[in-house]
Amino acid sequence: MRIGICSDHTGVEYKSKLIAYLLNKGHEVVNFGTDSTQSCDYPDYAHPMASAIEAGDVDAGIALCGTGNGMALALNHHKGIRAGLAWNQEVARLVKEHNNANVLVMPARFVSYRMAVMMVRTWLVTEFAGGRHQRRIDKIVQP
Ligand code: RB5
Repeated sequence: MRIGICSDHTGVEYKSKLIAYLLNKGHEVVNFGTDSTQSCDYPDYAHPMASAIEAGDVDAGIALCGTGNGMALALNHHKGIRAGLAWNQEVARLVKEHNNANVLVMPARFVSYRMAVMMVRTWLVTEFAGGRHQRRIDKIVQP
């Protein structure tokens, strides 16, 4: 897969380790920044990644900020994005199986790196269940 990844300053360390992990697993990775630990604004990194997913330039995305909420809020302003916040493996599975999240969002300040990488692995291998979940997804975006 061609996977986008972005974070604010709180997620930089996990992001760089996750890039190495994903490359090692044979994925292509597009890094949307930030690459600095200087305090920054998460929307500046969320929106370019969301636009790239909507344009089909990347297949899916991973986003990190302190709580995960800022990234999720910014990403979900895009009609083509379903950004789901996960904090353990079970939620990472369900966010794909039930919500078909095309962006996995994680709270860098509240999960270990070990948990983050396990969530990424789970989210990547899980398949969307469709059926009643597709019906619910179809009702998310208002015309
Ligand atoms: C940064 O301090 C923090 O506000 C940000 O990483 C994120 O948690 C916002 O939702």
